[in-house]
Amino acid sequence: MTGASGKILLETVRGRRQERAPIWIMRQAGRYLPEYREVRAGVSGFLELCYTPKLAAEVTLQPLRRFELDAAILFSDILVIPDALGQKVRFETGEGPLLDPVDAGAIAALKPERVVERLSPVLETLERVKAALPRTKTMIGFCGSPWTVATYMIGGRGSSDQAAARLFALREPEAFAALVDVLVEASIEYLAAQFAAGADVVQLFESWALNLDEPAFRERVIEPNRRIVEGLRRRVPDAPIIGFPRGAAGMIGEYVERTGVNAVGLDYATPPAFADKAVPKDIAVQGNLDPLRLVAGGRQMEDQARAILSVFADRPHIFNLGHGIVPETPISHVERLVDIVRAFPS
Ligand code: CP3
Repeated sequence: MTGASGKILLETVRGRRQERAPIWIMRQAGRYLPEYREVRAGVSGFLELCYTPKLAAEVTLQPLRRFELDAAILFSDILVIPDALGQKVRFETGEGPLLDPVDAGAIAALKPERVVERLSPVLETLERVKAALPRTKTMIGFCGSPWTVATYMIGGRGSSDQAAARLFALREPEAFAALVDVLVEASIEYLAAQFAAGADVVQLFESWALNLDEPAFRERVIEPNRRIVEGLRRRVPDAPIIGFPRGAAGMIGEYVERTGVNAVGLDYATPPAFADKAVPKDIAVQGNLDPLRLVAGGRQMEDQARAILSVFADRPHIFNLGHGIVPETPISHVERLVDIVRAFPS
């Protein structure tokens, strides 16, 4: 049943339901793993880890040694694009990412020409992982979507309401459009290079698709994601693409229809039965367990995992969390979750 590639996750993204739902976990390489913390302790900064192919490949593969996951996701970050555009990114412990906020002048000075060249260490990581990965496992590449990346570039840090970027987009629409153009172009080049380096599938992380009214969602989320899908498919025909518009809520159906993604990631606030109706059946859905259910574990986690699997039992579905795994997650709970997904419906 698997299909031409032999990879059940890739085939599911392509809309072909498999003998079971494949599983991977957003942010599956990270601080909940002691072996990750050990590698991380040996480098001076998080970005140094992203730019050291040997170590980044090692941490990419760590979760697959522990758990029977169906995919590896490139170890990197969505903020390597601003870094490669010349807006330096720093990660400080307990602070998250910090950048010097861009204004209209700084946007005009961004350097999109050399993004792929500057990100060559990340592409080398992909090549190394691909070479070590069993044939049945899918290699996932990714980038941040323009709006989400712009919220960090404009705000200079993460925020819960993205007010700085929302105001900038309204007050300086031309500078904002110029920034989106740069990010769309850079993302297309970078993702095309990821496919050339061995990615089977890519995910567009639109982690801050929330807090937007209807016209803003269309302009800042749907349209730039659509342009990336279109531009990438011109370079890589049939490129399999997962969109993850976290917080899209009632806009999820329109997002899928207008962007042309093959699969859509659902955040955990999206009711599965609503998504099942809103998303056409030939489009795969991905998700959507609350990461804190995985922290708490036990019956509540098992029941909700099975409830999600049941709703999506008759369509292509990739099991995942509804957002990234958190550092407090016990490893034994991840083992249990993988067992449940692989054994479903028993
Ligand atoms: O999924 C994976 O295992 C691949 C690696 C990956 C990371 N970041 C590693 C990381 C991926 C796919 C990302 C994407 C990312 N980065 C997103 C989108 C996904 C999401 O969670 O919404 C966002 C918004 C970022 C930006 C970012 N990077 C933030 C806000 C932070 C700080 C928050 C935190 O968890 O500390 C990071 C740092 C980061 N990215 C870490 C990891 C493992 C932790 C840093 C460390 O180890 O010191």
